[in-house]
Amino acid sequence: MTHKKKKISSSSPSSCVIFAIFFFSLSCRCHLTLSDPRISEAGLSCGTTKAPLDSNYVPSFIKEMEFLSQQVTAHNWGTHSVDGGGGTVYGLAQCFNDLSHTDCLLCYAASRTTLPRCLPSLSARIYLDGCFLRYDRYRFYSEETDPVRDTVNCTGGNVEGVAHQRSVERVVDSVVLKAVAKGGGFAVGEIDRVYALAQCWKTVGNDGCRNCLRKAGKQVRGCLPKKEGRALNAGCYLRYSTVKFYNEQRVVEAGSRPLRRGVIIAAVLAVAAVIMLSISASYAAFTKFSKIKKENNNRGQICSSIRESSLNYKYETLEKATDYFNPSRKVGQGGAGSVFKGVLPNGKVVAVKRLVFNNRQWVDEFFNEVNLISGIEHKNLVKLLGCSIEGPESLLVYEFLPNKSLDQFIFEKNKTQNLNWKQRFNIILGTAEGLAYLHGGSKMRIIHRDIKSSNILLDENLTPKIADFGLARCFGADKTHLSTGIAGTLGYMAPEYLIRGQLTDKADVYSFGVLVLEIVCGRRNNVFREDSGSLLQTVWKLYRSNTLAEAVDSSLRINEYPSNEALRVLHIGLLCTQASASLRPSMTQVVNLLTNSNLDFPTPTQPPFMNTGVPDSDSSIRSYSTNSFVSNALKKIGVSNSFSESSSSRSSDRPSSRIEEPIVQA
Ligand SMILES: *[C@@H]1O[C@H](CO)[C@@H](O)[C@H](O)[C@H]1NC(C)=O
Repeated sequence: MTHKKKKISSSSPSSCVIFAIFFFSLSCRCHLTLSDPRISEAGLSCGTTKAPLDSNYVPSFIKEMEFLSQQVTAHNWGTHSVDGGGGTVYGLAQCFNDLSHTDCLLCYAASRTTLPRCLPSLSARIYLDGCFLRYDRYRFYSEETDPVRDTVNCTGGNVEGVAHQRSVERVVDSVVLKAVAKGGGFAVGEIDRVYALAQCWKTVGNDGCRNCLRKAGKQVRGCLPKKEGRALNAGCYLRYSTVKFYNEQRVVEAGSRPLRRGVIIAAVLAVAAVIMLSISASYAAFTKFSKIKKENNNRGQICSSIRESSLNYKYETLEKATDYFNPSRKVGQGGAGSVFKGVLPNGKVVAVKRLVFNNRQWVDEFFNEVNLISGIEHKNLVKLLGCSIEGPESLLVYEFLPNKSLDQFIFEKNKTQNLNWKQRFNIILGTAEGLAYLHGGSKMRIIHRDIKSSNILLDENLTPKIADFGLARCFGADKTHLSTGIAGTLGYMAPEYLIRGQLTDKADVYSFGVLVLEIVCGRRNNVFREDSGSLLQTVWKLYRSNTLAEAVDSSLRINEYPSNEALRVLHIGLLCTQASASLRPSMTQVVNLLTNSNLDFPTPTQPPFMNTGVPDSDSSIRSYSTNSFVSNALKKIGVSNSFSESSSSRSSDRPSSRIEEPIVQA
């Protein structure tokens, strides 16, 4: 962790009290936040019916996962269905109730990343120890049990003696009763160091829950005398273990949030009152909470250092600056929230981003974000001026850019201005420099995850500024390959990231490559175009037939631009969009290639799609880990399933890497 350390002064008793209360509330939050997403796999079951070759099932599947991730982001569970060319895909995702929201997102991401192993099966379900994900071809939501697919997974060694057996039976019975009795469909419990958790899906109803858990109770008894047992049923999950695996503090559910939050606040206030009565108690509390603070990556210090710094803006100030978030001031809607134009009292014009994530976990992440990106400065990155953390919602303040985003310049029908070659080249170069900086030019390594034309803002001199590298967060080393499942925009997503969730800076390089081709060709890489295929396919085809020059935007007059340079840039775009992450250049290499036209560079060899009628002149296309079905379907969205090399790029996953927070696509 690289959070700046800062001394907290405790000069007076009253500041002690304030700090004590402050850290107490922090410690509440941190219990909710810092737990285990429980992404270990308890069971994966793939349906036996396979989608026909060349069907459109995979794009529908990917869309479905996107929709579900939005629901999980909002409610920790959800159902959704997508009508696609290959038939309707129904999906259900649910996190177990004791997971915090952040852990829920991680768990969902892990399940989503694993589930494609079942493709091209038309149905699959995966049970992780913290969440469940299923897709199928019919509306299965109310299904309680399934005589064929319900299973039990028994693990661990045997425990001698009847005492263990008795405890397991009693605790299992007790959680089943509790889960059904309260109608909540969830319960945890412990008897003599045997722990159990019962969870029903929200869609099965109370009767369904009872039937499912009763069956599950019988199933896990069959695991005895093993240490652990899990029943994995169509409508529920039940687990017992000799190790405590669940979180004690239940995460607040959407419906009961005001009440639960009220309870927490009341508790904090009550404790605060007690502390006020006794200075000595407050002093003890202060030292104790100082310790908690240390254990929690100095979160408290981040908050207070923001509070004291010039980064801090008053909520009321920003409210007034934006005319109380007047809709007429709205200038954009990013994934993380809507953006308003504001005028500060000193006349400075700023962009105020209202974050959509506003519960406690996200506020934590938000502190991280501000701490992280406020230290980052580059001419090609949108500058963060500050934030407001104390009002009813979290706000970020950015520099205001009067011009629009790049997509409005290159794609819109009645565009205000047709960019000439020099301008386009400078935008490409500036974006490359900004990305190279994010990837390694500063102390932190940041993967943007969502490079696309609408995230490139242009100032009055048409200097590109990368936006929305907001909401960064750190994952442990073992999670660097996990996307939280909702970042990225189809069409810009690298194949290994799209399918496997493997996230490295080479995923940004891929997105950048798509962007380069779009800028030079003046056309969107529309992945769902039926007629002529995606832009990527078109350009690769032209490249293979030695007519790459035809790809250049026809609105650029032929004698207006140096065709050698245009071809060179297109080549670089192709290099960046190769299927294998390790064949793609790094952003630093890209900058060098762009600025030094004498440099030789390798020929792009590996298109990100296959079987498109392009003569396969070379055999450099590596092995394909999945079957041709997937490749056929993926070809429709312009990517291939060649991931043979993606693992090698993981060497660049440094444990301390910072990874972007999910960006929900509207
Ligand atoms: C049973 O659960 C364990 C622990 O998560 C897991 O390693 C194992 O793969 C599971 N067994 C099956 C058949 O899925």
